[in-house]
Amino acid sequence: MQAKIHKKFVELYGEGGEAYASAGRVNLIGEHTDYNGGFVFPGAIDKGIIAEIKLNGTDKIHAYSLDYGAEATFGLNEEDKPAEAWACYIFGVCRETIKRGGKVEGFDTVFAGDVPLGAGLSSSAALESCFAFALNEIFQNGIDKFELAKIGQSTEHNYCGVNCGIMDQFASCFGKAGCLIRLNCKTLEYKYFPFNPKGYKLVLIDSCVKHELASSAYNFRRQSCERAAAAIKKNHPEVDFLSDCKRIWLDEVRDQISSEDFLRAEYVIGEVQRVLDVCDALERGDYEIVGEMMYQTHFGMSKLYEVSCEELDFLAKLARRVGVTGCRVMGGGFGGCTINLVKDELYLPFVAAAKAEYALKFGHAPKVYDVVISDGARKL
Ligand code: GLA
Repeated sequence: MQAKIHKKFVELYGEGGEAYASAGRVNLIGEHTDYNGGFVFPGAIDKGIIAEIKLNGTDKIHAYSLDYGAEATFGLNEEDKPAEAWACYIFGVCRETIKRGGKVEGFDTVFAGDVPLGAGLSSSAALESCFAFALNEIFQNGIDKFELAKIGQSTEHNYCGVNCGIMDQFASCFGKAGCLIRLNCKTLEYKYFPFNPKGYKLVLIDSCVKHELASSAYNFRRQSCERAAAAIKKNHPEVDFLSDCKRIWLDEVRDQISSEDFLRAEYVIGEVQRVLDVCDALERGDYEIVGEMMYQTHFGMSKLYEVSCEELDFLAKLARRVGVTGCRVMGGGFGGCTINLVKDELYLPFVAAAKAEYALKFGHAPKVYDVVISDGARKL
């Protein structure tokens, strides 16, 4: 990929620049907890974005997406937002860097990626983190890594219409080969956990379902959580986020909030605890508990948080039936992948069954990705 990018760069912009990379992510457990001040447990993966970048001495950015075969040109002022959705990520990162007092001047770039789009693997965070990291290096802005992750998150909020949490950009900036990272999204304390479950594999089954309205549905979920937390705060002023709430505090406000908001909050409060339970289980090497928690998360995401879909429920049910240790919908939901913890000896029969039965039911085969936990944003 890097060679292809370089070839195109030379063709379009002359002498080559420097190459930077960043990664997509998986999340073992802790879904929709980040914007609720809870824990997440992601890791960067061996699928990502590479960008070659060189200053061009002007105040314009020329960005070429190898995957779309398209170029966008834009300036660095707020009113220069490009029309192309993919270019808005780069524009947003430039703007958010400038807002933080960083220097950004015109540059040429060619980039490409191999994170499947719409699969819940955070291709957009990979793109944001790659440019946030690269600009910080090139202009020697001295912005710390957390702030680089926040540059990506604010790009989503302010230029892409998704009111996301910090998990994806955090994983993409902080990712380390072989490690999952438990992040407390309230305090921003984090801890690396070497993840090499002997006798098991992590595999993603991509339903290939992409939900058109996923970003607005995501924003609605977040609003539900904020309403529930605000209701609880009236009785318990120390509550800032749903992650601060005890389950019984939620019961106290049952008739003050909608039944829908109640279900959303019930899921989140359970999920915050499950991340901690999974970390404990991992330290004991108890993968059966890890897997059981994954199934519980799937149930919650499907029945309480309602971000699953028929295809993902089908995959989770199938996984349970054939004896997969843990399976759940991963990421924001509304399509994308299930993440599966599978015993080595079950890997081939499971993948074969998932492909065949899914194709029979839905008329197309799912995609299968083996997960390799890898490094995040870096210079190549
Ligand atoms: C998306 C968001 C993240 C997080 C997950 C759900 O990936 O970008 O911030 O909320 O959904 O866990």
